[in-house]
Amino acid sequence: MKKIDKNFLWGASTSAYQFEGGYNSDGKGLSIQDEKEILNKETSDFKIASDHYHHWKEDVALMGAMGFKSYRFSISWTRIIPNGIGKVNQKGIEFYSNLINELLKNKIEPIVTMFHFDMPNELEKIGGWGNRKVIDAYVNYANILFDNFGDRVKYWITINEQNVLLLQGPIVGIKRPQNCNVLQHVFQMNHNITVAQSLVMQECHKRFAAKVKIGTAPNISSIYPASCKPEDVIASKNVAVLRNWFYLDIIVKGYYNRILLALLEEQNAMFEIKAGDMEIIQKANLDFIAFNYYTTTTVKMNEKIANYKLPIQERIFGFPGFGETVSNKNLNKTQFGWEIDPKGLKVTLLELQERYNLPVIITENGIGAYDKLENEKIIDDYRIAYLKSHIEAIKEAINEGSQIFGYNCWSAFDLISVHEGISKRYGLVYIDRDEKDIKEAKRIRKKSSYWYEQVIRSNGEEL
Ligand code: BG6
Repeated sequence: MKKIDKNFLWGASTSAYQFEGGYNSDGKGLSIQDEKEILNKETSDFKIASDHYHHWKEDVALMGAMGFKSYRFSISWTRIIPNGIGKVNQKGIEFYSNLINELLKNKIEPIVTMFHFDMPNELEKIGGWGNRKVIDAYVNYANILFDNFGDRVKYWITINEQNVLLLQGPIVGIKRPQNCNVLQHVFQMNHNITVAQSLVMQECHKRFAAKVKIGTAPNISSIYPASCKPEDVIASKNVAVLRNWFYLDIIVKGYYNRILLALLEEQNAMFEIKAGDMEIIQKANLDFIAFNYYTTTTVKMNEKIANYKLPIQERIFGFPGFGETVSNKNLNKTQFGWEIDPKGLKVTLLELQERYNLPVIITENGIGAYDKLENEKIIDDYRIAYLKSHIEAIKEAINEGSQIFGYNCWSAFDLISVHEGISKRYGLVYIDRDEKDIKEAKRIRKKSSYWYEQVIRSNGEEL
């Protein structure tokens, strides 16, 4: 077995709107997440979250105690620029500047995501990623981040889960205009995001050359055919393009994958590419691929209309003759019904290696569970088992050629899940709050955090 590189970035992740709270403190503007309608009224909103805004120093100390080499977090656009464009909020700059300094003091490498689902409200009002003005606003925002933190941050991630944001917009909190051609709208947004992040990648290289690295972080999971029927294999390849490759092929290789373009053309949903856009994209030249991995997807061919609730004009998945998702009977599930597939992580890493030949880093991977606090302890052996099996898969993939340089599990601390509240806990550290009562948001290390500390100390040898 090959040894893991001694500079491997072991750590964990959070995102601003799910973790920080302080949603309107010290001049922060509102994002779509602050005003999102919480569909399940029993679950928490994002206003106070884990109250990291008031516990950041203690939180970094805990990361230091766990031996983190890296911490992947996102910056809230509206904490830096309350309206998304225009006046900069110095208090916001100060907050992240202090956080970054504290991380560096603890020898923790900051890995900073510029955008994690939290579009400024004022920009959403003009159409969000659907409006090309937001490209300029995002580039301006990224420049402010480079101006203020570029001297200390060596790893930048432009966009979190571009594919999930687009394919599952309403779940993530992104409204779609009524009566639009959803497929066209979604892939127009995708194109605009791709142009925006390409400009930011170019700017990063222009400013910092090789000293600073920049990548993007889609959610990537290998797609299995439900059987060895050739039709199912074709379906798996189609869905793999829709689910994974369309977003990476364009930014890494500089062209749009024709398998999805063919579907868009057939559905009358082709998006607009303005003169000069492809040249911008082809100069993006990203340094690494970051990706989030939770599970794999299994797909079968659907000759007729698939069993989807939405009418075809509002649908993104399940086009007849394209493929539809089915469950994989070989895999166990989490308490929240997500299939657990550590071998699938190895498959995914090797596919990424084969397809793009770039360094990769995992920026999310973990298990959501109803953790129980008993006698001030959380015995989360299922989380240890989950993380252990996935790290084993990483080791095997390294042995077989993957250029992975870091693993940041989800999540460093409990935080509010995208749409299932605080009760769906992912953290290594427990936050003592429930759905409606923030209490004192006391931090308590779970059993898994002690186990992970030893994994980091032994550089992945002691699992
Ligand atoms: C990823 C997101 O999709 O999955 C995170 O980047 C999210 O923001 C994580 O929390 C887990 O999903 P969920 O729905 O369980 O919160």
